[in-house]
Amino acid sequence: MSITVDKIKSKFQDQGDELVFFVNGKKIIEKNADPETTLLTYIRKTLGLKGTKLGCAEGGCGACTVMVSKYHPHQKRIIHHAINACLAPLCSLHHCAVTTVEGIGSVASKLHPVQERIAKAHGSQCGFCTPGIVMSMYALLRNNPQPTMHDIQDAFQGNLCRCTGYRPILEGYRTFTKGEGCCGGKGGTNGCCMTNGHIQELANGNSTHQAEKLYDPSEFMPLDPTQEIIFPPELMSLSKQPERELRFIGERVLWIQPSSLNDLLELKATYLNAKLVVGNTEVGIEMKFRNLLYPVILAPAYIPELNSIRHTLSGIKVGASVTLTVLGDMLREAVMNLPSHQTEVFKAVLEQLRWFAGQQIRNVAAIGGNVMTASPISDLNPIFMAAGCKLTVMSKGGERVLEMDDKFFPGYRKTVLRPDEILLSIEIPFTKKGQYFSAFKQSPRKEDDISIVTCGMNVCFQERSDIVQNIRISYGGMAPVTVLATATCNRLINRQWNEELLQDACTSLAEEMSLSPSAPGGMVTYRRTLTISLFYKFFLIVQHKLALDMQMEGIVMEDIRPDYASVTEPFQIDLPSSVQLYQAVPPDQSGDDVVGQPIMHLSALKQATGEAVYCDDIPCYENELYLALVTSTKAHALIKSIDTSEAMDIPGVVTFISAKDVKGSNMTGPAVYDETVFADNKVTCVGHIVGAIVADTQAHAQRAAKAVKINYEELKPVIVTIQDAITHNSFYHPVRTIERGDLTQGFKDSDHILHGEIHIGGQEHFYLETNCTIAVPRGEDGEMEMFVSTQSATKTQSLVAKALGVPANRVVCRVKRMGGGFGGKECRSTMLSTVVAVAAQKVKRPVRCMLDRDEDMLVTGGRHPFFGRYKVGYMNNGKVMAVDMTLYSNAGNSMDLSLSILERALFHMDNCYNIPNIRGTGFMCKTNLPSNSAFRGFGGPQGMMIAESWMSDVAHSCDLPADEVRRLNLYKQGDLTHFNQQLDQFTIDRCWLECMQISDFSNRKAAVEEYNRQHRWTKRGLSIIPTKFGISFTAVFLNQAGALVHVYTDGSVLLTHGGTEMGQGLHTKMVQVASKTLGIPCTKIHITETSTNTVPNTSPTAASASSDLNGMAVYNACQTLLKRLQPYKDKNPNGVWEEWVNAAYFDRVNLSANGFYKTPDLGYDFDTNSGRPFNYFSYGVAVSEVEIDCLTGSHKNLHTSIVMDVGKSLNPALDIGQIEGGFMQGLGLFTLEELRYSPEGFLYTRGPGMYKIPAFGDIPTELKVSLLRDSPNEKAIFSSKAVGEPPLFLASSVFYAIKDAITYARAESGLTGPFRLDSPATPERIRNACEDKFTKLCPPADPGTFTPWAVQV
Ligand SMILES: Cc1cc2nc3c(=O)[nH]c(=O)nc-3n(C[C@H](O)[C@H](O)[C@H](O)COP(=O)(O)OP(=O)(O)OC[C@H]3O[C@@H](n4cnc5c(N)ncnc54)[C@H](O)[C@@H]3O)c2cc1C
Ligand code: FES
Ligand code: FES
Repeated sequence: MSITVDKIKSKFQDQGDELVFFVNGKKIIEKNADPETTLLTYIRKTLGLKGTKLGCAEGGCGACTVMVSKYHPHQKRIIHHAINACLAPLCSLHHCAVTTVEGIGSVASKLHPVQERIAKAHGSQCGFCTPGIVMSMYALLRNNPQPTMHDIQDAFQGNLCRCTGYRPILEGYRTFTKGEGCCGGKGGTNGCCMTNGHIQELANGNSTHQAEKLYDPSEFMPLDPTQEIIFPPELMSLSKQPERELRFIGERVLWIQPSSLNDLLELKATYLNAKLVVGNTEVGIEMKFRNLLYPVILAPAYIPELNSIRHTLSGIKVGASVTLTVLGDMLREAVMNLPSHQTEVFKAVLEQLRWFAGQQIRNVAAIGGNVMTASPISDLNPIFMAAGCKLTVMSKGGERVLEMDDKFFPGYRKTVLRPDEILLSIEIPFTKKGQYFSAFKQSPRKEDDISIVTCGMNVCFQERSDIVQNIRISYGGMAPVTVLATATCNRLINRQWNEELLQDACTSLAEEMSLSPSAPGGMVTYRRTLTISLFYKFFLIVQHKLALDMQMEGIVMEDIRPDYASVTEPFQIDLPSSVQLYQAVPPDQSGDDVVGQPIMHLSALKQATGEAVYCDDIPCYENELYLALVTSTKAHALIKSIDTSEAMDIPGVVTFISAKDVKGSNMTGPAVYDETVFADNKVTCVGHIVGAIVADTQAHAQRAAKAVKINYEELKPVIVTIQDAITHNSFYHPVRTIERGDLTQGFKDSDHILHGEIHIGGQEHFYLETNCTIAVPRGEDGEMEMFVSTQSATKTQSLVAKALGVPANRVVCRVKRMGGGFGGKECRSTMLSTVVAVAAQKVKRPVRCMLDRDEDMLVTGGRHPFFGRYKVGYMNNGKVMAVDMTLYSNAGNSMDLSLSILERALFHMDNCYNIPNIRGTGFMCKTNLPSNSAFRGFGGPQGMMIAESWMSDVAHSCDLPADEVRRLNLYKQGDLTHFNQQLDQFTIDRCWLECMQISDFSNRKAAVEEYNRQHRWTKRGLSIIPTKFGISFTAVFLNQAGALVHVYTDGSVLLTHGGTEMGQGLHTKMVQVASKTLGIPCTKIHITETSTNTVPNTSPTAASASSDLNGMAVYNACQTLLKRLQPYKDKNPNGVWEEWVNAAYFDRVNLSANGFYKTPDLGYDFDTNSGRPFNYFSYGVAVSEVEIDCLTGSHKNLHTSIVMDVGKSLNPALDIGQIEGGFMQGLGLFTLEELRYSPEGFLYTRGPGMYKIPAFGDIPTELKVSLLRDSPNEKAIFSSKAVGEPPLFLASSVFYAIKDAITYARAESGLTGPFRLDSPATPERIRNACEDKFTKLCPPADPGTFTPWAVQV
């Protein structure tokens, strides 16, 4: 029966039930609970609790984590769970208690230890992820006040942080563990994790300098579990009452929570299309992102029969609503209590659950939800299919039992259940002696990721033999449904488990598990190879177990070779240990002078309690409206017509805005005005902003935006990739070249010449806070007040003024803080702010928009992909004589900052190597992709990556150790770079030596070689990589900054400067600078925001230069004030600050001063290759060791040591935070993060579900960071150095360690010499590069013979 909401409403006369729940101990009675409202929207918008953040709306980032507690009447206990508020339907919370970050503590009242420790351990930078992490930890401690580090790691599987690199969070929370408060000596001579290198003797042994701890754990408040908020007694008694049916009626959806199984079946028979919802982790995604509407939702979460768990004679019967957490607990218990041979399938399920989503999802997602979603990449269905699980399904008419086999899923996301049936339970069978079962899951990231290929494998042997009696292998990810490899399995029955069987099985699987080269999901060769490689793993595991079991029976059977054993072990994430070393301030430095001290980020505590205000946390204006973007679905097309009629009919819609509403200029752009505010009759990328809907609520605006219909006429060509651009000669101008020396002669003088190529993929910024703007028209003289999450207040002001057609003095832009920026909010943020401002101008009301994650990823571009082609001349000893390279960047559909980015790539194409003859030519490809933009490193990492690629090729070609070849080619003090800037204070050599020492490089290398001799299918690799990063904006005029300092009569100081705070701790450093200069404690100084009406004409907070520039401006302003106060100090030398300030005030002295600074002696001329583009350079060196699994392409980051020259650190805690955070972001760039585009320019990866940034489990198991001692930099404030961008490239050491490991693997197949490895080194690329007998069975289709699903842009 089809149903509409109007029919429902009339049927129930609009009478829904009251939803009763508690939030932070307060009872909430909601009379109009809308089934489409999530808990997150409710607590933020209705309750005004802004501590819980929205990062993705798809359960993938954990920013929205809250704790839900409920009384479980069957278990007779209260259960606390961390959940994702963004996916939890409000209606699912009846009789639950919700605890948000505000509920556990605050700066204003009392902090909770969980909040205090993350802040004081420097685990909060931008702070946007912090409340979610706090709540994951809090929920863990509520269940387990003394967790192990493994518990903590598990608790954070569903939380992401883009800033910190995770290490400080884990270290801070390690203090809650019992007996693990210390790294157990793993820090070795370099220190202990609790004390963070307290009283260290430095590794080179020739210094007695001591590094101090970054924080003092002894100051932490103890955890007192008795002080936690109690479960509301009223809820306890309410929960014990008999269940009754509940109905909640919303604008479009009816939610029914039936009270019994019979009622559920009755309702299902009445509403055949009704959707059952348990965890909503699938349905919630469908409604939000696939725009699906389910008018009737049935919530069976509380029905006893669907929650029961029963042991039967043949297995365990699990109710369909049992959550994955409960399933895991139950199976663990069964594994402990039952004989091992009975629990083979249970163990496989448990192994699969370890890597299934994050804990927040597992706490709510049901086993039945996984089965019934019928996803081809479900992780449980292949197990259930291989095990032949029995499913009991039920309707009003009765029940039937089905076996999970290849007929159960008749098509994509379909099951054989009839519309009136529900899944009641699943029976997971026991296994018997002689039966072996394994499950494998391969995904791009190990933690919280969806599968590429997933499988269950089940074999049963004839009694006391190795003859196969029965075998069942099931794969996910190889077809639109979970499949059985039936043909292969049939061939293996009655065969002996030996090499011959293996060969046959692999050949057969290669045939049976074939895929079209255009198959959705791409990675076709890899997926096919995986089916075989995973079977091979299974083969080895079984052979090993069989040999052991037969041995017990007295039968001798050949075991696997010892060098094969490592691949049979399950993947482990080892407990991390770390050391941070830095130079302590001199003992005679005054306690009030905190420059050089590791003081905490000044907002960290507020961030940990949720009190820190981000743009979207600003309370709504009374008449505020919400804006949703309408964007192009075509990459290159003419707009023939726009039909907004359906959109305008949606309730609450106020207007549609497009190009014709722009009163000023519709042309915009940060460097050149070559793009539009709204597309004007032509679109040039998918995601091009065409218009916007303004409505009363976000939901209405977004719904209406989706209803706008645009008619296109498609244009040719559609240029998506760099190769397309080369073919079509589609470039922006100019083409840039830097050349030094005599290339012809250089090649002539070389012993050898090689040619090579590398492609470096782009990167999404993935700041946890997406772009957000609030525009408030002031009602007179065209004034507009903008609250924006931007790194560039001035650019926002000027581009908004341009679009509004008013002078810049009518627009003020305010930035309190950002939840991360990384370059992504340097200028792409203006795309949104201009649109919102135009809307506010039109409707004359405040307008707000915070982009959803998918919109942000679609619209705002990211790091430029680069392609490098090179010719290298080198000597037998590895000395490089000449390099000629061509760099292509994929700029997208507008120039944006592409020219400066390309120039920086060219400035860094030497990395740290002195190449006497070198030429780099750079092209910017004009493509039909959203414009790419600034991203930490700004082209530098791409330039250096190409350099390291040819350096690695040279080492391979010479068959020399890469570290020796690199060392041989390093610059020396006083050398000239290829752009003719002299290298003074060149500390690479010192960094190199210290890094070699702290990483114990030579012993490590010997150990790697030994390991590789002993292991065939896992290999280790090691590399050392240096970096040199030029500091300054290459656009000279940007190297200026201003500051404004007010001193009030009570002595308090209000500081403003041109930089914005995005987590990097700039405001903290500026307060430190002002405090030292004025000679007053930091507590007297406050920064409230960055704004264009206090400090005008600011440069973007970018290029790592903000501390240098703003620091000097602050210093200069403070000096002016000091001079004015000096007479009063002289008059009253024993007085205090307040007295001098007061005396000056009464003497009518101006207590407000501005400061200004411009970097001297900058300027470079490309025509003459002369001048100084950079003020100075930051240097660093990293050593990394990895282990790869040659069969799956997974890798583990075993070790990283970093030595970084940050001059005389202004704040070692913040600088180490930047190094570790930058390193982890680089690790994502070079090993993990992959943007996937269709050949038509459509971006598939639009959220954390498909785009994987590093997670907690990706940090190196052992991480050492050392700040180079005694390296003052006279070119910047208080001898410090810039640190934001330089460390990012050091993560390429992980990439080259992977390449090293692959080299060892290839050698096993007789392959030597250079080979191409593109970045990122994903499992797919690693596996494909480890060529062997299995890869040979799955050759790739010839390029050009098919249309791939995704292209390398
Ligand atoms: C961030 C994230 C990570 C994820 N990671 C993984 C992963 O690693 N591996 C994986 O396999 N999946 C993963 N998923 C998918 C999803 O979490 C699982 O499929 C989960 O088990 C679904 O359960 P649920 O209770 O939330 O389903 P719901 O969304 O509530 O329902 C899903 C479907 O099942 C139907 N259904 C539920 N119960 C019944 C029943 N008793 N009878 C009939 N139909 C029923 C519903 O009608 C609906 O169609 C992930 C999802 C998210 C959001
Ligand atoms: S916002 Fe909920 S998990 Fe990202
Ligand atoms: S501090 Fe974690 S995302 Fe910024």
